Amino acid sequence: MMMEAKSFQLFPEQASTIAGHVDALYAFLVLVSAFFSLLIAFLMVYFAVKYRQKPGQSHIPAHADQHGAGAMILEIVWTVIPLGLSMVMFAWGVSIYFTESRPPADSMEIYVTGKQWMWKIQHMEGAREINELHIPINRDIKLTMTSEDVIHDFYVPAFRTKSDVLPGKYTTEWFKATQVGEYHIFCAEYCGTKHSGMIGTVYVMTETDFNNWLGHGNGEGSMAEQGQALFNQLGCGNCHPSVVNNQNGRCPNLVGLFGTRVELKDGTNVRADESYIRESVLYPESKIVAGYDNIMPTFKGLITEDGMLKLVEYIKSLGKPNGNTNSATPLPVQTSATPQTPARAQGKMAPRPATPAPAAPVNP
Ligand code: CUA
Repeated sequence: MMMEAKSFQLFPEQASTIAGHVDALYAFLVLVSAFFSLLIAFLMVYFAVKYRQKPGQSHIPAHADQHGAGAMILEIVWTVIPLGLSMVMFAWGVSIYFTESRPPADSMEIYVTGKQWMWKIQHMEGAREINELHIPINRDIKLTMTSEDVIHDFYVPAFRTKSDVLPGKYTTEWFKATQVGEYHIFCAEYCGTKHSGMIGTVYVMTETDFNNWLGHGNGEGSMAEQGQALFNQLGCGNCHPSVVNNQNGRCPNLVGLFGTRVELKDGTNVRADESYIRESVLYPESKIVAGYDNIMPTFKGLITEDGMLKLVEYIKSLGKPNGNTNSATPLPVQTSATPQTPARAQGKMAPRPATPAPAAPVNP
C-alpha cells in the first residue's frame, strides 16, 4: 500500500511472490466459514418454523429417540466433509508455511537488528539504514534478524510475511518483491511504549536504481571488511587462524568453517551457521570443538548485535566448504590499503566502485 491511501482497500497490495498464495488461502477460509455460517443460520430458522410445536401436539414427538440407518449416514456425512475441508486447509497452510520458512539458497542477504524502537538494517556491501529497507525487485531477499532488547516482529503486510525478531537468537524471513513501490514495515509484537511507532518503509527498486543507491556506500567498507576489522580489534586472530593450512593447535581454523558440520567434544555435531558462531563468541563454553580445550574467554558485553552480524559476515567470507563463497569473496587476513569489494551472490549485481563514496544512503 502506498503511504497515502489512494482509495479504500480491504487488503494491502500484493507485492511479493507469496502474497497471492496467502490471499487465496485466506479467501478459501473466509468462503468456507461464510458458507457454513449462512447454512447453519438458515437451517436454525427453517427448522424452528418447520418443527415448531403445533397446538394439541405432545412435547416429545413419537420415535424421537430412535436412530435409523438414515441418522448413521447423516452422521458420517457431516463428519467426513468437515474433515476433508479442514485437511485441505491444513495441507495448503503447511505448504505456504514451508515456502515462507525456507529462504532460497541464493538469496541476497540483509541483516536486521530490532531495538526499542527502531529497525536497523545492514547491507553486506556496507550500506546501513534505519527504518528503511531498500531492495531490488524480483530478487529473493533473506533477512537475518536479531534484537538488542525485547521481542519484536518484522512485518511487511504487502509481502504477506512476518517473523519474530528475538533477543539472543537469529531468525530469518524471506520474500521476493514483484512491484516497484513503497510498502509499510510494522513491528507486529508489542514491545513497549512506542511499539506503534516502530515502523518503517520498504523501497522496492529496479535493479539499476538499487545498484545506484547501493553504490553510494558509506565509506566504512563492506560488512565483511568491518567484521574483519572487529576480528582484529578484539584479538580473535591471535588464536584463530584465518588463513588456509594454518593450524596452531590451540583454536579451530575459521577458513571454510561456515556451513560445515562441526564435530564437538561431547561426540555430537552442529552446523556452523549464524547462530552457532554467535553462541561461540558469547558463550564459548557451550559447544567445545572436538580436539580443543575450553580456553576461549567470552566476548559477551564487548560486542554489539550489529558488530556480531559483521563478524558472522566476515567468517562467512572466509569461504564455504564447497568453495563457493555464497555471500562474499574471501578477504585477505591483513587489512590492505585498498579494500576488496565483495560481489553479490552469483555475480548478478554490478560491482561497487572500489573507492567508496562518502555519503551514506540513509543514516539518521
Ligand atoms: Cu518492536 Cu513492537
